Amino acid sequence: TCLCLFVCCRQPGEPQLVTGWLPFFGVMLDYAKNPLGFLRATQQKYGDIFTCKIAGKYLTFIMDPFSFPMVLRQGKNLDFHTFAMGFSQRVFGHADFTSPVYSDSYKDVHSIFTQTLQGLHLQHLSQTMLDNLQTVLQRCLPSESSWREEGLQCFTHRIMFEAGFLTLFGKKNGVLQSETVGMCMQKAKQDFLTFDQAFPILAAGLPISLCVRALRAREALAEKLLHGELHQRTLISDLIQRRMDAFDCMHLDETGKARTHVCMLWASQANTLPAAFWSLYYTLRCPEAHAAALAEVGQILQDIEDHDTPISLSTEQLDSMTVLESIISEALRLSSASIMIRVANDDFSLTLDSGKPQAIRKGDYIALYPQLIHMDPDIYSNPMEFRYNRYLDEMGQKRTQFSKNGRPLKNYLLPFGSGASKCPGRFFAMNEIKLFLTLVLWYYDLHLSDTNKAVLPDSTRAGLGILPPMQDVLLRYRARGIRYKE
Ligand code: HEM
Repeated sequence: TCLCLFVCCRQPGEPQLVTGWLPFFGVMLDYAKNPLGFLRATQQKYGDIFTCKIAGKYLTFIMDPFSFPMVLRQGKNLDFHTFAMGFSQRVFGHADFTSPVYSDSYKDVHSIFTQTLQGLHLQHLSQTMLDNLQTVLQRCLPSESSWREEGLQCFTHRIMFEAGFLTLFGKKNGVLQSETVGMCMQKAKQDFLTFDQAFPILAAGLPISLCVRALRAREALAEKLLHGELHQRTLISDLIQRRMDAFDCMHLDETGKARTHVCMLWASQANTLPAAFWSLYYTLRCPEAHAAALAEVGQILQDIEDHDTPISLSTEQLDSMTVLESIISEALRLSSASIMIRVANDDFSLTLDSGKPQAIRKGDYIALYPQLIHMDPDIYSNPMEFRYNRYLDEMGQKRTQFSKNGRPLKNYLLPFGSGASKCPGRFFAMNEIKLFLTLVLWYYDLHLSDTNKAVLPDSTRAGLGILPPMQDVLLRYRARGIRYKE
């Protein structure tokens, strides 16, 4: 009856309702097939705001980018955390931190993100990532004379997963054979990917108990992240150390604590891995981008060529790499398909940029789909094309002025979300990918085996962040002849 009331009793001032013809599912199939195409076609019919019935839920889409800030500013009426926590609890199996038992202490846990992923902490984290990337690369450096072949996605995952994992969760105590470390990481990476693959169906609502492989993989990861195991590791990041201390004080059970760490591992890797893939893929596919990136990396590292010590980079050096930053931003623009969802706490009136008030009911879902901005030809000319210097101004500095129909636009690139749900790891993520590109371009000669073959993003994961490629592409690489000792 509740849903019938929703449909039959539309109030004046409420957005147009698009129900489709399927009972319960509504327009889910059309939306899932091609979210961007569906939203654009619906916008043509109904304008900049409409409510779609999708799998029993009513989502109100705001299409006009100038109205995004109006939604994001509604912290009081529109809630992000309850929705996100419900999803996270269902998928990762941790405690319900919105319950009164935990909610006060969880606010402190949440503030650890911003405290440990910015400023001096960020600087330290980035240097640790650089050290770990060098350790991983050093372990399997090919010779100068022979070319190696590996899928670009495998290559990226192998290097970035291990370096990212070690940077957050530290290294195992004691002297271990490098093969043992490699095998252990390979298993963790495989478990991570198995769990991550099930994400679209878990997000669609399937209980994880029905995805046996994903559940097993998640629990195997949790076993590695039990506090008893983490205590045997050194150089744990402040982020994880402070979360461990906080969860110990909250008296969660040991498996519950470990599952919150799996959640953190997922947040730190699930988008970073495909983002690193696309950044390197587009660099290698575009000769101008490749040349400009090599020149920038050479410029920064030229002084260290003869040194026998691991590379270290200052914050200023990292920040000065504007070409790499533009390449990464452009790769993010082309591959990001996240959705920002807020839930109305109360009935209220939302005034959009047009000045028209819209009646929103308590419990309504409001959805923003940033890909509408990223692929808008009025903001980005030829939006499907990769242009390595899109985010550079005439002086080679970061470009921040974008406009739509002659009007300046503040939110022109939103792969990290915005407002209450803005990714706290965004600065670290950009640094991680910059460091990855810097090192692989510096140590290796890299070529795509088939430059004519274009790979597309896999849109079955639309709504979940950075899309992975539909399939892997073959990479040929060999060492460039620069050596350093650990
Ligand atoms: C949340 C994107 C890397 C930690 C988010 C959200 C987005 C995002 C869109 C908001 C999700 C939502 O609205 O529900 C990305 C992208 C990344 C990246 C594109 C890489 C290219 C990272 C890294 C870390 C991280 C490296 C940590 C080391 C988090 C956390 C949250 C989050 C903890 C949840 C914040 C909260 O609950 O308030 N990320 N992220 N992310 N991200 Fe990232």
